[in-house]
Amino acid sequence: MEVITRVADLRNRLDKESSVGFVPTMGALHNGHKALIDRARAENRVVVVSIFVNPTQFLEGEDFSKYPRTFDKDREVCRLSGVDYIFLPDVDEVYFSDELSILAPKERGFTLEGFHRIGHFNGMLQIVLKLLNIVQPQNAYFGKKDAQQLALIQQMVKELFLRVNIVPVDIIRDRDGLALSSRNRYLSHSERDRALAIPKSLEIGSKLIMSGERSTSVIINRMLNALQELDIDYVEIVRRDFQNIESVEIGNSIILVAVRVGNTRLIDNMFV
Ligand code: PAF
Repeated sequence: MEVITRVADLRNRLDKESSVGFVPTMGALHNGHKALIDRARAENRVVVVSIFVNPTQFLEGEDFSKYPRTFDKDREVCRLSGVDYIFLPDVDEVYFSDELSILAPKERGFTLEGFHRIGHFNGMLQIVLKLLNIVQPQNAYFGKKDAQQLALIQQMVKELFLRVNIVPVDIIRDRDGLALSSRNRYLSHSERDRALAIPKSLEIGSKLIMSGERSTSVIINRMLNALQELDIDYVEIVRRDFQNIESVEIGNSIILVAVRVGNTRLIDNMFV
């Protein structure tokens, strides 16, 4: 495995490769990332993982400076998972002064996560577009936990005619049900206990749907009850293309939750 910091060097290594799987990350790798890497390893000849805490997707006052940076551990995870190249650029390697920018779509990019973190998706799409152009993979792997991110990347790939296959990978949960996230490490013991209301609320939602309930407002209200101890940003049920719906469409809907537990913001969802 090689750690590469320069775009030109990575391009040299990948020049003649026609089976490249790419896993973009911000580091602080956990088993959720490992699932993406394992899938990429199984489906491609060469696997590239990028580790880059992207400043443009953090808003003023968010956790950019305290975001966990655990490179030694991440390198070991990658090595043991059979990664071929870690791409570890500096900010100056991938960003330019007065550069052009990509804007998230006006509606789908500014609801839910986009509403609570205005501008976040502009920065996220900007870096993902750059990374896809640098690596030029055949397959790129993204977790379903960031469901709106995934949908916007799929939209970008379609509308900018990028030649890459986006592979969505299921959420990985701890044994207690909490979805794995690099931000879980900010939680104290008692905050972690309280955070378990999140997967429980999703379970309540999915059980209601399984028992025949289809009204999104009825389901959302029951979930809000289960989350009342937490500071709720939103509970929503949308179509998988993030259009609003009043009635759940089985096989084409997502239940989404975003809450704050103490100072930590957590998101989770379930595809139904
Ligand atoms: O999901 C993430 O970790 C980031 O948003 C991504 C896709 C690596 C872009 O910085």
